[in-house]
Amino acid sequence: MSTAEVTRTFDVAKVKADFPLLQRELKGGPIHYLDSAASSQKPQVVIDAMTTYYETINANVHRGVYEIAEAATNALEASRVRVGRFIGAPNPETEVIFSKNATESLNLVARSWGGANLGPGDAVLLTQLEHHANIVPWFQLQAEKGFEIRWIPLTADAQLDLTDIDRLLDGVKLLALTAMSNVTGTLTPVRELTEKAHAAGALVCLDACQYVPHLATDVVSLGVDFAAFSGHKMLGPTGIGVLWGREALLDAMPTFLGGGGMILNVTLDGFTPAALPAKFEAGTPPVAEIIGLHAAVDYLDALGMDAVREHEVTITAYALRTLTERFGEALTIHGPAEPAARGGVLSLAMEGIHPHDLAQVLDEHAVCVRPGHHCAKPLMKVLGVGATARASFYVYNDTDDVDALADALGEAADFFSF
Ligand code: ALA
Repeated sequence: MSTAEVTRTFDVAKVKADFPLLQRELKGGPIHYLDSAASSQKPQVVIDAMTTYYETINANVHRGVYEIAEAATNALEASRVRVGRFIGAPNPETEVIFSKNATESLNLVARSWGGANLGPGDAVLLTQLEHHANIVPWFQLQAEKGFEIRWIPLTADAQLDLTDIDRLLDGVKLLALTAMSNVTGTLTPVRELTEKAHAAGALVCLDACQYVPHLATDVVSLGVDFAAFSGHKMLGPTGIGVLWGREALLDAMPTFLGGGGMILNVTLDGFTPAALPAKFEAGTPPVAEIIGLHAAVDYLDALGMDAVREHEVTITAYALRTLTERFGEALTIHGPAEPAARGGVLSLAMEGIHPHDLAQVLDEHAVCVRPGHHCAKPLMKVLGVGATARASFYVYNDTDDVDALADALGEAADFFSF
């Protein structure tokens, strides 16, 4: 079956042609890049936007008064507004904070909001789906502040088990959860949980790292208070992350990193922080990366985020069907069985084959998947495995990629002979 037969949202062949790396041959054939949950490929327009910045207006921002410095500043601020509009931020000029990555954004919330608001007797509620980036900062802070950390458990198919949610939320000051698991692809009921959390007096911090690249996002209708994501998983460059937060909350929070750019004044006695967003952006920002992110957002918007989601549901459904029919019970695919309940992330476990061995055999067929614990060790424990081999899809993946995955898994099964 061709992708054209299963996907009617956009022309995947045309999309693929926009990505220089995907034109490479590897092991004598096309590359099958199935690791977008780790980092996506970049279209030519993103690479060009960064190159053009370096070739035409490379200068530091928010400092110089000469023409190219002002052009660089304007380009950075235009990206802030563009990125903010992409996620429905009501006040993009002030509420969109540029960071290094989603991890830094989550650390900012923990250190700044958490540092000022959490103490003994308080509780933070996490889910068992979380990435280490939304676990470790809370443990680090807990060691200093002595609050309680609670966990929303999972059902057998790795969805949130909300049976006990009212009790879990009782006395909680912050619910910090992923919108979509990077391991199982599980989509969480963010809006429902936000309503419950707010009713219980808690704020909500969303790890939207695997969500913003794949589903139309509106932070207002999701109802969250903070949302963190990374540029490199959404066709943009590495080294650029975003924290969106409600203006009043960000405004009231203490500063995070200190240095140039984040102050209004410094004297021999102390400093006064700058207004938002500069207050949270110490040091020279990654200007080229911010400009690259703008181009990535333009590219995704041109495809249409509803179409992006539809394509991924289609490819995921095709993959679930193909792999299940071919391997039956020899292959475990963790997470929800229903494509609509998940993103395009398949964590695979093949009977009798270690995920690292599996990934190595797949690599011989130019099928790129990630083996390991995916920075979610507590979730691995809940799933009862040490590691999985993870295939993840994005806008440029087609049914050929899924077929190549299935064929390479077949080769691995033969090689390890069962
Ligand atoms: N968080 C990224 C992943 O899931 C790196 O692979």
